[in-house]
Amino acid sequence: MRKPELDMQIFKRRRHQVGQDIQGSALILAASPEAIRNFDVHHPYRQDSNLYYLTGFEEPESVLLLRPGRDPEAVLFVRSKDVERETWDGFRYGPEGAEEYFLVDRAYPIQDFEERAAELLLEVDQVYYSQFRDVAFDRRLQDTLLRVQTRARRSGRGLLPILDAYPLLGEFRLRKDDHELKMMRESAEIAAQAHIEVIKLTSPGINERALYGRFLYEIMARGASGPSYQGIFASGANATTLHYVFNDQECRAGEVILVDAGAEVHGYASDITRSFPVSKQFTSAQKELYNQVLEVQKKIIALMRPGTNYSQLQETTVAALVEVMLDHKLLKGSPQEIIEKGSYRKYYPHGVSHFLGLDVHDAGKTELAKGQGRPLEERMVLTVEPGIYIPAQDLEAPPELRGLGIRIEDDVLITAEGPEVLTQGVPKEVHEIEALRS
Ligand code: GLY
Ligand code: MN
Ligand code: MN
Repeated sequence: MRKPELDMQIFKRRRHQVGQDIQGSALILAASPEAIRNFDVHHPYRQDSNLYYLTGFEEPESVLLLRPGRDPEAVLFVRSKDVERETWDGFRYGPEGAEEYFLVDRAYPIQDFEERAAELLLEVDQVYYSQFRDVAFDRRLQDTLLRVQTRARRSGRGLLPILDAYPLLGEFRLRKDDHELKMMRESAEIAAQAHIEVIKLTSPGINERALYGRFLYEIMARGASGPSYQGIFASGANATTLHYVFNDQECRAGEVILVDAGAEVHGYASDITRSFPVSKQFTSAQKELYNQVLEVQKKIIALMRPGTNYSQLQETTVAALVEVMLDHKLLKGSPQEIIEKGSYRKYYPHGVSHFLGLDVHDAGKTELAKGQGRPLEERMVLTVEPGIYIPAQDLEAPPELRGLGIRIEDDVLITAEGPEVLTQGVPKEVHEIEALRS
């Protein structure tokens, strides 16, 4: 019999906190649908991050219905026990196990959702739910809301209004609690150790795939459930594809390889990028550009304190990277003109930061009002990832820089004392990286 590894009070406490903000409403969170990989084989299952955040429950076909201030308050719908299915697919908690271990007030079989939920929703004024992510469950909820209206008989009540649950939970998820910080530190440390092993293993002739395999082994041997996203192992010009997915080319002497990979620990992601030479050392042109990107990264990390506006991170990055581009004559014109026209996007097309947590691109609004960022706060975790990517066919670029992609990415916790780099275990100074190769 499986038992949850975590203290379920963590999730109960979060339900209580969210409940304080939505008295009179209900919150409905549905499990992610299972995804077919081919024929009758599934992709590895990963729970919906919001449902996990409030329950810790990892089975598919489950739903949380939360009614703050009502009795029962937290109701979980789960798959029933089924000896035959469990023989094939593994253990299920069933409603009894869900009540016993997950500290919800009531648990019912998922097949009773429409009928039970219609009863439970009679007492609320509105429903928080994320529509259009799972059309099949949307339909079940529509049917349920029609039942609620029918049960209200001739009261003249309309359908319960639906508000988006995603931004509601984002406001909680972007400030990490102590449990989350513990998991994120662990995830960062595990991924950092794995990056070191990958750097050590790299040499001319090795395939990107072998390096990815080593990364997966190193994180899983240290307790991660798997990668937090599909790793990017991009040698040479492959590094100029931002989300390179093939990971199947031979690494060649003289190239730089960009490795963007993270671990997942109890749902929490790390997200690290290092760019390093396939041979033992950078060429002088590679080293110069690398150090310029590293300087930008350090400058941004120094800004990551409570009160700094999120938008300032990108603005400062763009201004600094445009200087680097001008230095290498990649662009012409004044910095102001380049920034206004956005022509720097040819070499730096992405953002410098995103929230990190249960999702690699985590929930939480980066703007409090349209066009304005939001001030950083303690307990937020964000990435910092400046980069420069010079296409192989770019005839305007100096030949020694063509087909070179450099990104340096760390994960940073905002604290009152300043930025805490969770991923500092993996070196990024040129001499440190080269020392790992000797
Ligand atoms: N690994 C995806 C990203 O850096 O955002
Ligand atoms: Mn990232
Ligand atoms: Mn990344």
